[in-house]
Amino acid sequence: MARFFITTPIYYVNDAPHVGHAYATVNADAIARWHRLIGDDVLFLTGTDEHGLKVAQAASEAGVSPKEWTDRTARRFIDAWAGLNILNDDFIRTTEDRHHETVRKFLSQIYDNGFIVPGVFSGLYCVSCEAYYNESELEEGERCPIHRRRVIEMEEENYFFRLSSFEERLIEWYASFPDAVLPEAKRNEALSFIRGGLQDISITRTSLSWGVPVPWDEKHVFYVWYDALVNYLTAVGYGRDDEMFTLWWPHVHHLIGKEILRFHCVWWPAMCMAAGIEPPGSVFVHGWLLVGGEKLSKTLVKAGGSDEGGAQVKLTQVAPDLLIGDFGVDAVRYHLLRDTPLGSDGEFSYEGIVKRYNSDLANNLGNLVSRVSTVVASKCGGIGPAPSSNSPLRSAADTAVDQAVLAWQRFAPHAALEAVWGLIGATNAELEECEPWKLDPGPEVDDVLGNSIEALRIIALLIYPAMPASADEIWRRLGLDASPRESLLPRDASWGGYPGGLVVEKGAPMFPRRKA
Ligand code: ME8
Ligand code: MG
Repeated sequence: MARFFITTPIYYVNDAPHVGHAYATVNADAIARWHRLIGDDVLFLTGTDEHGLKVAQAASEAGVSPKEWTDRTARRFIDAWAGLNILNDDFIRTTEDRHHETVRKFLSQIYDNGFIVPGVFSGLYCVSCEAYYNESELEEGERCPIHRRRVIEMEEENYFFRLSSFEERLIEWYASFPDAVLPEAKRNEALSFIRGGLQDISITRTSLSWGVPVPWDEKHVFYVWYDALVNYLTAVGYGRDDEMFTLWWPHVHHLIGKEILRFHCVWWPAMCMAAGIEPPGSVFVHGWLLVGGEKLSKTLVKAGGSDEGGAQVKLTQVAPDLLIGDFGVDAVRYHLLRDTPLGSDGEFSYEGIVKRYNSDLANNLGNLVSRVSTVVASKCGGIGPAPSSNSPLRSAADTAVDQAVLAWQRFAPHAALEAVWGLIGATNAELEECEPWKLDPGPEVDDVLGNSIEALRIIALLIYPAMPASADEIWRRLGLDASPRESLLPRDASWGGYPGGLVVEKGAPMFPRRKA
């Protein structure tokens, strides 16, 4: 059996989840669900990044302890993912004991191997990024290019990771694994950063205590990024469960946003090398959802504009649960998966959701479900006829399945869904051509409806990773047993699986039209 390990970034708990986090998490969830459907043994990991200055500051602003703050905010992520029907196998919080233990073991190994050394560091630091910048990278010489916040001077005595020793090995790694970082443009970006020369980086802090203590020098804590990246190892038992670790590592798929490319595509593989384990199997870098050209970010949203240079972003436009309230969970999932291809940036707007909802869900999928069940009720006594083996829809269905298989494989949910919508369109077109609603009951009507039901059965299977509840509902209305999730693809999506003779339910419209 194939194993499939997929991760999202672990999100900072300085504030509530927004639709940018939902974008990454829903995409990972849909890909994980697809892999379960094709019979893989899946481990889907997400979680929260709870240490560091940004979180400590958020807690102190709220007047509560970091522990209380992180408990409260991690809960908001857990609830948001439940609301989006995210089926993660594990949820890691970096404040957990298991994580502290793995961080201690992993970084001690790197220290013992001679790749962590003491030194003094000073630099310009963005608290929102939890990262140092060179002056040349800053806007107006003083503002972080991502958050537009003023950077601060920091000077610390701390430990350095000898990243500079890994230039050659990283370049070799990129040469040996041309698909390790995708899309290709992102791979090239990482590679040219490495070729530009790597400097050692400071990986511990004495200026704060909210972190994992350094085992060999307890007045230091690890810099939040060094603790955060290790979450991927914690979840597969590094230093705690060797059997689990060898099962799952290094065959991981990290899905990350483009702003954290260097951490994942330069530092992280180097850290793995330094500890004597394989670098991660693959990193897929996705783009940003933008509102009026600005990245959605908790910091920007909170700033709300002017003095911090942030965009005028309304919180109501970006909270996942508000969108779910307006459109339903599957419509939100569908939009996130279909509208912005993984790897590209996308403009996010309420109007955009309404438009796609009406065209793809109300007019196409919803309409097909209504038509089929209405005509089966009026012309076939409510009992679905069997499909025929020579249906003109058969090749459309086969094509959709083949394209979906390839698209999910290459992390292109939008293309997988486009393929399914090709089949939905073909089925609607076939119905419009035959117009069974105008015919008398009989073999011709039975033929086109049996085939349409079979197409819908396959459609339900193929939309399942994106819209699990809708897939279940279509399945149920067609009178099929169990759930699409118990199927095995592509086997069960081959033409002819619907037996005929089942009661078809005529339900309420699944996706009633919305006003713009
Ligand atoms: O960076 N569009 O956490 P974070 C698309 N804790 N995706 C977006 C987005 C947007 N506008 N905004 C955020 C951190 N994301 C670290 C990660 S991992 C070891 C540590 C998504 O809360 C995207 O996946 O800032 C991005 O990489 C992630 O949220 C960053 O979340
Ligand atoms: Mg961020």
